[in-house]
Amino acid sequence: MTSQIDHLLSENRRFAPPEEFARGAVAQADLYDAAAADREAFWGRQAKDLLTWAEPFSEVLDWSNPPFARWFADGRLNVAYNCLDRHVEAGNGDRVALLWEGEPGDSRAVTYAELTDEVKRVANVLTELGVDAGDRVAVYLPMIPEAIAAMLAVARLGAIHSVVFGGFSADSLRARIDDAGAKVVITADGGYRKGKVSPLKPAVDMALADRGGQGPQATVEHVLVVRRGQNEVEWTPGRDIWWHEAVPAASAEHTAQAFDAENPLFILYTSGTTGKPKGIQHTSGGYLTQAAYTHRNVFDLHPETDVYWCTADVGWITGHTYVTYGPLANGATQVLYEGTPDTPHPGRWWEIIQKYGVTIFYTAPTAIRSFMKIGRQVPQGFDLSSLRLLGSVGEPINPEAWVWYREVIGGGSTPIVDTWWQTETGAIMISALPGVTETKPGSAQVPLPGITVDVVDDAGAHVGNDAGGLLVVTEPWPSMLRGIWGDPERFVETYWEKFSDKGFYFAGDGARRDEDGDIWLLGRVDDVMNVSGHRLSTAEIESALVAHEATAEAAVVGASDETTGQAVVAFVIIKQSYLDKHSPDGLAQALRAWVSEQIGPIARPRDVYIVGELPKTRSGKIMRRLLRDVAEGREVGDTTTLADTAVMSVISAQVR
Ligand code: WTA
Repeated sequence: MTSQIDHLLSENRRFAPPEEFARGAVAQADLYDAAAADREAFWGRQAKDLLTWAEPFSEVLDWSNPPFARWFADGRLNVAYNCLDRHVEAGNGDRVALLWEGEPGDSRAVTYAELTDEVKRVANVLTELGVDAGDRVAVYLPMIPEAIAAMLAVARLGAIHSVVFGGFSADSLRARIDDAGAKVVITADGGYRKGKVSPLKPAVDMALADRGGQGPQATVEHVLVVRRGQNEVEWTPGRDIWWHEAVPAASAEHTAQAFDAENPLFILYTSGTTGKPKGIQHTSGGYLTQAAYTHRNVFDLHPETDVYWCTADVGWITGHTYVTYGPLANGATQVLYEGTPDTPHPGRWWEIIQKYGVTIFYTAPTAIRSFMKIGRQVPQGFDLSSLRLLGSVGEPINPEAWVWYREVIGGGSTPIVDTWWQTETGAIMISALPGVTETKPGSAQVPLPGITVDVVDDAGAHVGNDAGGLLVVTEPWPSMLRGIWGDPERFVETYWEKFSDKGFYFAGDGARRDEDGDIWLLGRVDDVMNVSGHRLSTAEIESALVAHEATAEAAVVGASDETTGQAVVAFVIIKQSYLDKHSPDGLAQALRAWVSEQIGPIARPRDVYIVGELPKTRSGKIMRRLLRDVAEGREVGDTTTLADTAVMSVISAQVR
């Protein structure tokens, strides 16, 4: 059994960095030596080299009260100044910060000088609205330059933003506003999605509506509204303010005040194992240090020449760290795209890469797999030769998708960095260095210089090479979460209790070290199945299924089973191109046999259901919980976080 899994996981293709890339790379192998020699001194150096401090710090890390870390605690800085003003002062005001592309095809280039000016004005508007250091401001915006300006203006004041993804409902927005006690909401009338205006302001109005004594009184005093969709909106005089009226009228003079390095920067809500989202809290100096460090070294950023594009929405952590803070702290030029990948045509992303000459591209495996499903002829219709580095984030990337990404998008030559991290870690933790590491498709591989992780058993003991276990972070890191908003106990319980005797951070992910010691992420431990006492990863079986020529996408769940404890149940989408040539008869059987062949009879799915769609959240994550309900013949649970709530009834019908 073990050896069969090994066979699948020890994907033996290796890709060395192209020589020229390696020679010119920002990060060279000596970065590992520098970090290993003295880890704290290393981070101190990164903080000094990458950021501008109003007052220098004298201590790098204070870990005297674990798990509550303080990084660079007596240093003071302004985060927005670091992302804006200092680039202008250095003579780079004319450099483009944002190459913005609206979904309908309108576009805007915003320079560092322009963005700095805008952020100063917004900061002045927010001050007039009563926002002070420590106050919370909710941001509920589409992917427009104002979203970034809003975040930076809040940061500039030492206030705390809570960005809520524009796809979340009024109820979710209300829960987040209440939990954080937000004073102001920054929103838009609407934004473009899938070819039409998707309204946002009405959701804010609903979230703030009179509660008739139900629940807490709304804490929000003002709503600042960007006009984007031109859709009709209702207006509450005195509370609501148009951005396009207030911001241009405000002064562009604003001196950034310095705040403590541990001043909170933002709260970002993420789902945990319970129903209630957790408000993950991040602070300033450490977060910005690791954001800038990882963005520069993992993406090999040459700010004078690169055009960088991360497709994440600012509503997620990837958008916070790799759209707003990392790139701007580093003075990068980046693309910002408002809409969906397939609007108005399936090649929209590739068209944008061609139009702006994107050199560094960062996206999620789920997107790559949906492009695979459509076929390579779409990207092949565009000139993607400007690309020199590709990144992946959010879930394990199966080797087939990895290789397709490299071949079809990367022209068969670009390095791929598979980056493992979490909302809680704030920035990338495990990743290849693109000019140094020989990459393996499907493995995130090695912790970054300065980061220490391990794979351990349930008791916290190192498992060694060629073995699986739980991923832990063994030493504090600069961009680590500082807590859960309003719930310090939950913070300790969720992440630190499991290995409290060792002081390890428990990531909640299963992982495995291969014979070289490289790390393979196996998915959340709650998605790891136990079949007849054998541990199987959903990701691993999915990887096998999508390696079959017929399969476009697959999701696997562990359903309870009388005999084996859990049984593997697979939901599979078949490629249209396959169905054009073959009959689907017997395919479920063939796929069961295929998995058995690929991994071993123990992994053979009990059931393979051929379905038309999979239930995904708006951020593209498959909701296995719902599939487990179907697989176990239960009534399907709460579907409110699905992008398309109708999909479960379709799947249930197909399974029946
Ligand atoms: C998963 C996203 C495998 C993992 C930045 C983690 C990954 C969760 C990878 C965090 C990767 C993220 N390989 N799995 N490269 N990146 N994950 O908070 O399970 O949205 O715990 O942060 O995504 O998701 P989150």
